[in-house]
Amino acid sequence: MKLLAIVGSPRLKGNTNYLVDQALEEAATLGAETEKIVLSQYVVNPCLGHDNCASFDACQQKDDAGWILDRLCEADGVIMATPVYYYNVSAQMKTFIDRNYFLYKHGIKSRARAVGIIVVAGSEGIEDTLHTLKQFIDEPFAVKEDRIFIAYGYADKLGEAKNNRPLVEKARKLGRQMVESLKMEGVH
Ligand SMILES: Cc1cc2nc3c(=O)[nH]c(=O)nc-3n(C[C@H](O)[C@H](O)[C@H](O)COP(=O)(O)O)c2cc1C
Repeated sequence: MKLLAIVGSPRLKGNTNYLVDQALEEAATLGAETEKIVLSQYVVNPCLGHDNCASFDACQQKDDAGWILDRLCEADGVIMATPVYYYNVSAQMKTFIDRNYFLYKHGIKSRARAVGIIVVAGSEGIEDTLHTLKQFIDEPFAVKEDRIFIAYGYADKLGEAKNNRPLVEKARKLGRQMVESLKMEGVH
């Protein structure tokens, strides 16, 4: 069972990364093979909007989006994680979401059978951010509603999430739930 997390926070030791690590650690304890991709560590350019994806075998932009999308398609479970930036997903996450248009235009779906969403805000904007991510996952993922797991909460300064025990437990629970639901689907 492969679990992939795509992280939209550029703060490597920030709250989102910490919570994702907690979820993945819990999942690994239960036997999952885990991978974390922090988008800011790679080159993922904005979509160029020519709307001609279908006429190309591969996206014409030769950056890291191509292989990251391949991993997204191959994973059994995918976690999308972002901090709230101006009441929505971070720019890194939005840029990556837009690059999924290539999959959409080719009718390609991820094989993932479970999806996790982790969102952290300083104080407000969680609702719109969750809305964006829920709308997004509808397209590349053919997952049932009860296979979508969400952990969100509040933390601001570096390291704050670590001291928010209920939030940490929510993230760990998400990791657990994803593995358990995949096992129920026969994915081991
Ligand atoms: C550019 C920017 C925009 C932000 N916008 C919001 C916002 O709209 N609402 C909010 O509650 N927090 C906002 N924050 C605070 C972050 O969501 C918060 O610090 C979060 O813990 C950052 O997560 P990270 O440590 O994983 O990077 C913003 C932070 C930055 C850097």
